This record gives sequence, C-alpha cells and structure tokens, in this order.
Amino acid sequence: MIRAATPDDPLRIAVLASGTGSNLASLLERLDDTVSIVGVASNRADAIALRRAQDADIETAIFPRGEDWAVRDRALRAWLVERRVELVVLAGFLELLTTELVDHLPVINVHPSLLPAFPGLKAWQQALDAGATETGVTVHFVDAGLDTGPIIAQEPVPIREGDDAAALHLRIQAVEHLLLPDVVRRLAANQVSAPAGVPA
Ligand code: GRF
Repeated sequence: MIRAATPDDPLRIAVLASGTGSNLASLLERLDDTVSIVGVASNRADAIALRRAQDADIETAIFPRGEDWAVRDRALRAWLVERRVELVVLAGFLELLTTELVDHLPVINVHPSLLPAFPGLKAWQQALDAGATETGVTVHFVDAGLDTGPIIAQEPVPIREGDDAAALHLRIQAVEHLLLPDVVRRLAANQVSAPAGVPA
C-alpha cells in the first residue's frame, strides 16, 4: 500500500495532534528522509504540538470540531489534499474522524492499549481500573469507529505493582515513541499491506 518512497520522492505525511505532541517530537527525531512531514493540524489552538511544528518550520492549521464533525472533516480533507498528503498520522488526536476523511485518505493512529482492550480516552487508567497486569500500544488504521480499525502493530507494556496513572502512561509513551515512527517507516517502504477498505 501507499508506495515505496525514496529520499528524492519522500512519502508526504500530515500529523494531527491535540496535546503535548511528544509523539510528533519522536516522529521528527526518528523518521528518515523517505518521509516528509508536510503539515501538522490540531483541533485545539493551544496544542503544544503546534508550537513544536512551528519550531521545526512545518506548516500548521487549526480545525476545531465546531457543531458538525463532517463539515470540519471536509475542510480538513481539503487542506490535506491541497498539500498532497499521502498518509495521515494521528498522534494524540483526541477526537473521532468521520467518513468524510477516513474513506478518502489512509489514516493511522497510535493508541495506548492492546486493542481491542480499552478503547477510548485514558486507556492506561482503564487498564489500572480493570486490575490488568499488562497493557501496551497499538498502531492501527483508522475507520469512523472508536479505535476499531485494522491493527498494524502492537507492543506489550507490563503493569507493575504500585503503578499510578502517570507512571504507567510514561512507560506506555516510551513504547509509542518507538512503535509509531517504526510503522510510518515501514509504510513508506511499502512493507505494510492495507486490508480491504483502507483507501489507497
Ligand atoms: C498518547 O499517549 C496517545 O496514545 C494518546 O494521547 C497521547 C498523546 O500524547 N492517544 P502526545 O501529545 O503525543 O504527547
């Protein structure tokens, strides 16, 4: 899927983030020159991720949810298409996307659990509340459901005695910071086959 990208013709990706952007920082640090981050967008004007992008001279945009998600997603899609984005990477984008976007462009997401366990917000807290002894990280294609798209890669993370939410989230994020860039690199090397339904 996608295509085999090269340094002369890198895969053009956009990153969507709502928060601090530590996953964006790890993408900036770890991706090689077969991938080019051509834009960073957020649903929140105060997302620290936007500042990180500006510091890296990457174009930014804000698409607040507004009253109608489909209208927002049509505008977001137009922005992505204008920039010839080939892959959209959700890195802590804390809102669902509609079919206006996910039916037209390939989108991947990093989620802090071993899906299908603990979809939705604060998955690390959900794992603690459930008394689980292990959780993890999933990178998956995005459909219009809540963390339901086809899984590309997963990595377990142990839950230790005495872990609180902050400690567990930190341990999970350290894994996210490796797994997400690794999957993007594999996509850019054409090493991931896309299941039916994922737009080319
Ligand atoms: C990550 O833990 C991600 O899994 C979750 O939101 C967090 C975003 O962190 N969906 P950051 O903004 O990349 O630091």
